[in-house]
Amino acid sequence: MTAGANQGAPSAQAQGAESGGFTAVVLAAGKGTRMRSDRPKVLHALANRSMLGHVLVAVQEAGASRLAVVVEPGRDEVVREIERLAPGASVHPQAERLGTAHAVLAARAALEAGRDVVVAFGDTPLVTAETFARLRAPLREGAAVAVLAFEAVDPTGYGRVLTESGRVLAIREEKDASQEERAVRLSNAGLMALSGAHALSLLERIGNDNANREYYLTDAVALAVADGLSVAVVPVDEWEAQGVNDRVQLGHAEATIQARLRRAAQLGGATLIAPETVFLSVDTVLGRDVVVEPHCVFGPGVVVGDGCTIRAFSHLHDARLMQGADIGPHVRLRGGAVLEAGVHLGNFVEIKNATLHAGAKASHLTYLGDAEVGAGANIGAGTITCNYDGVSKHRTTIGAGAFIGSNSALVAPVSVGAGALVGAGSVITRDVPGDALAVARGRQLTREGAAKALRETLKAAKAAKAAKAAKAARAGEPD
Ligand code: UD1
Ligand code: CA
Repeated sequence: MTAGANQGAPSAQAQGAESGGFTAVVLAAGKGTRMRSDRPKVLHALANRSMLGHVLVAVQEAGASRLAVVVEPGRDEVVREIERLAPGASVHPQAERLGTAHAVLAARAALEAGRDVVVAFGDTPLVTAETFARLRAPLREGAAVAVLAFEAVDPTGYGRVLTESGRVLAIREEKDASQEERAVRLSNAGLMALSGAHALSLLERIGNDNANREYYLTDAVALAVADGLSVAVVPVDEWEAQGVNDRVQLGHAEATIQARLRRAAQLGGATLIAPETVFLSVDTVLGRDVVVEPHCVFGPGVVVGDGCTIRAFSHLHDARLMQGADIGPHVRLRGGAVLEAGVHLGNFVEIKNATLHAGAKASHLTYLGDAEVGAGANIGAGTITCNYDGVSKHRTTIGAGAFIGSNSALVAPVSVGAGALVGAGSVITRDVPGDALAVARGRQLTREGAAKALRETLKAAKAAKAAKAAKAARAGEPD
């Protein structure tokens, strides 16, 4: 991918022409002032994927065979995100922000192929692949332009779709609309599909003779009508067409995406006991018969196998659980946690960069980091792998069937062999061979009757002190 170049994914392009693919132009050159953020608006995330990422994925799923993204010059973070999620896309800087049609023409090099064009907005992240496909569909039936529109509850701020006996005539931007036109509630969602045969000729004729002195993409509609071409209106739900301009709208969009992800998880066979309290990432995978208790958070990179139970208040990130693992409440899984089949983790257990083999258990208050725990091993309450010496991280290896007594510290690098037993309260600094018993703590000293004797000595001393104080008080009294 090269900035401003026309060499985006030539192979995809060739393939697209045969399979009837289209060119998606994603406009992402917004300023995003109202986000009050140092980060470009389109990189703000929903369910742990940037808004731009959601749009790039949706248009690709809808069959875009060529992808062109229009960006503000110098936004390297945006370019990196495009490279990550749509490696074949071409990037087109828009030097001046002169309107949506001007922005589409910034990607002109990607439009030459004469294929259908679908325009998407990087800050309108809820539009589904299915809707993009519906928007494009009328082009196959001869429409030159298709616009996505909804009956707005309050159309203020939107371009109005003007019709006459069911035929679309034009889209009028709010600022340019007459009183009568402003009363129209059919509103333009902004996204548009243009047929390959007409796209460039329409776009090139758009002028800027309007209140904003901007080149409006929406003017393609009146131009098409004047040419005697047909324009289709494709309906969309208002909430799906919502753009994100500030953090309040970002919050609303997050709620919508979460609702979709939960529903997909439920339809896929997972039980979410209180779905509205479970937060998922776009890439979260929950298997069949997974049960998720209330208040769990799934960060990116989590795959949960069939039949697992995630108990309340657990937080998972970059972790893999296999068949029947049962974790929580209050478990934290961090980067590189792998729990094999039937692993059990109880309350307040944290796992980082560690593999627990089948059937291993850590039931309470444990930290296992940079570790490997053998099948069926039992990790007692309060066990800690001391994996960091202040400079480097070190590994702990625990063999199959080993038993680590409660409140043990395993000072890495160290290994405990298969079937070995570590006594409670041990600080293990040297390797323990398989089947050995290691105890590393002060020896216990027991003296018969010593507690009672000590108690009597202390009581006698206290009584003597009180008697002395009473005598002193009497001596000081007046006669
Ligand atoms: C646009 C539509 C309006 C519709 C509304 C829906 C036009 C002229 N108007 O208006 O009919 O009701 O969306 O939300 O299209 N952008 C660029 N470069 C530019 C201008 C815009 O990249 O020079 C991008 C923006 O970052 C944004 C998108 O295009 O993602 C839409 O632009 P915006 O200025 O928000 O258009 P609206 O005025 O909301
Ligand atoms: Ca807008």
